[in-house]
Amino acid sequence: MLKPLVINRNIVAHNPVVLAPMAGITSEPFRRLCRRYGAGMSWSELVSSAALVFGGEKAQRKSRELAWFSEEERPVAVQIFGADPNLMRQAATIIAATKPDAIDINMGCSVPKIAKCGAGCLLLKTPPQAQDVIKATVEGAAEYGVPVTVKMRAGWDSQHITAPEVAKRAQDVGAVAVTVHPRTAKQAFTGHSDWSVIARVKAAVSIPVIGCGDVHNGPDAARMFEQTGCDAVMIGRAAMGNPFLFANIVSYLESGADAIEPSGEEKIETARWHARELCELKGEHTAMNEMRKHAAWYTKGMPESARLRDRLCRVSTFAEMEEIFEDALDAVARYGSVEELSHR
Ligand SMILES: Cc1cc2nc3c(=O)[nH]c(=O)nc-3n(C[C@H](O)[C@H](O)[C@H](O)COP(=O)(O)O)c2cc1C
Repeated sequence: MLKPLVINRNIVAHNPVVLAPMAGITSEPFRRLCRRYGAGMSWSELVSSAALVFGGEKAQRKSRELAWFSEEERPVAVQIFGADPNLMRQAATIIAATKPDAIDINMGCSVPKIAKCGAGCLLLKTPPQAQDVIKATVEGAAEYGVPVTVKMRAGWDSQHITAPEVAKRAQDVGAVAVTVHPRTAKQAFTGHSDWSVIARVKAAVSIPVIGCGDVHNGPDAARMFEQTGCDAVMIGRAAMGNPFLFANIVSYLESGADAIEPSGEEKIETARWHARELCELKGEHTAMNEMRKHAAWYTKGMPESARLRDRLCRVSTFAEMEEIFEDALDAVARYGSVEELSHR
């Protein structure tokens, strides 16, 4: 049996394979799907502390939508970002009032909009400032008894690997767990993540450490546990269009065997469910914008997938997407399942 991920007395994920936060991708329906297929816990997309605290009506609404989670997802963390301790304290209280299992601080994002205001991975340049932000967030979240976690990269660049120091400082001011994606900010998504940094963070703290970066399958997850001693592995890009991956990795870790691959029909039905739930949550227009890429990922490798993708990128209504899914089901029926096709 896999050991559960125990973050504290109140946060126990039934298994230690968890879904990464991914802006524009891991909205609530996708997170729920991943949980159904076995992810132990999920993190929301990142939410701006400034928008939460003093944004206009539209910004506030958008932020609250991003921070929304369903009961089915628990345990779930809502991720916020910011560089101003005072704003982070207030934002943490606002989010804590909605009672997520944890509030997570983003110290990994390097997109200019976020780095420009000194937040995200910029905080890794100045560990004392990072500590002030974490301390204030812990204080704000404590108003409603919600614990705080921190997700960070390895450091700003290869000369400044500050994750072990920042993790220690986070623990000192009350964070209950840290996640490490061990690429530097300068690396963005290039090269490989350096898992030795996860091991260094693990040696520096006694709170749980979640490892993240370049885990694509069960053997990768097993190697990350073995090489780093981490308490959980977090999966990002490999889950895109593939919520089934969680069942696979959990099965591999438990028994050494992969779970049965979903059929083409199951993949398309899952995509259809995802699209429908997104429409209900965000309205058809926004849902279709978000869903086009997911639908292309779900149908990757299927019969006639290039033609499907070409049509999918022009879809603007749920009815059009449904039609394409029907055609995809026909193609699967005509040519056989994805696996059969790949063996021809
Ligand atoms: C499209 C995209 C969006 C992301 N958004 C976030 C985010 O909102 N917050 C965060 O902490 N990390 C974010 N990340 C980083 C992932 O959580 C993860 O740390 C990274 O992708 C490495 O894991 P992987 O190799 O399994 O993808 C994002 C990554 C991608 C590819």
